[in-house]
Amino acid sequence: MTDDLGHMSDRDVRAALADVPADRTYLLPALWTLVERFGWISPAMMATLSSVMRIPVAEIYGVASFYALIPVSPRGAVQAHICTDILCQLQNGERLWQETSAEWAPQKVTVTAAHCLGRCEHAPAAMVGSAIVVNATPDTLRAQIREALDE
Ligand code: FES
Repeated sequence: MTDDLGHMSDRDVRAALADVPADRTYLLPALWTLVERFGWISPAMMATLSSVMRIPVAEIYGVASFYALIPVSPRGAVQAHICTDILCQLQNGERLWQETSAEWAPQKVTVTAAHCLGRCEHAPAAMVGSAIVVNATPDTLRAQIREALDE
């Protein structure tokens, strides 16, 4: 159940974390579990995680906000990360990011410029949800986004 701000209840967050050991070495798996389950990590969710793992909220925020793949603000139903690092930039990655950003409403698809996705040999690379798109073009990226949206 969510509150008016879209935050998940303390009970829902604790239930999602049930299979993650309450140990600070599991902070990243815990954050990723919450992202997969809820799409982003709100301040209230960080407070619950802080209580469960006994890690200060500031430290959790610091770790979460460091990683582009861990959103700390509300996102659209689908997240698309388009690499704009140097090799992808040389293959029009930045233009692909700009055009894709302009094409989709942010409430529906959140398009983010990303650092290297480790697929440099197939630049430009992108990630839609957890699916990697290599040699991305506007058409292949659009098709992957539509598939993720179940359109
Ligand atoms: S520079 Fe884009 S995937 Fe490595």
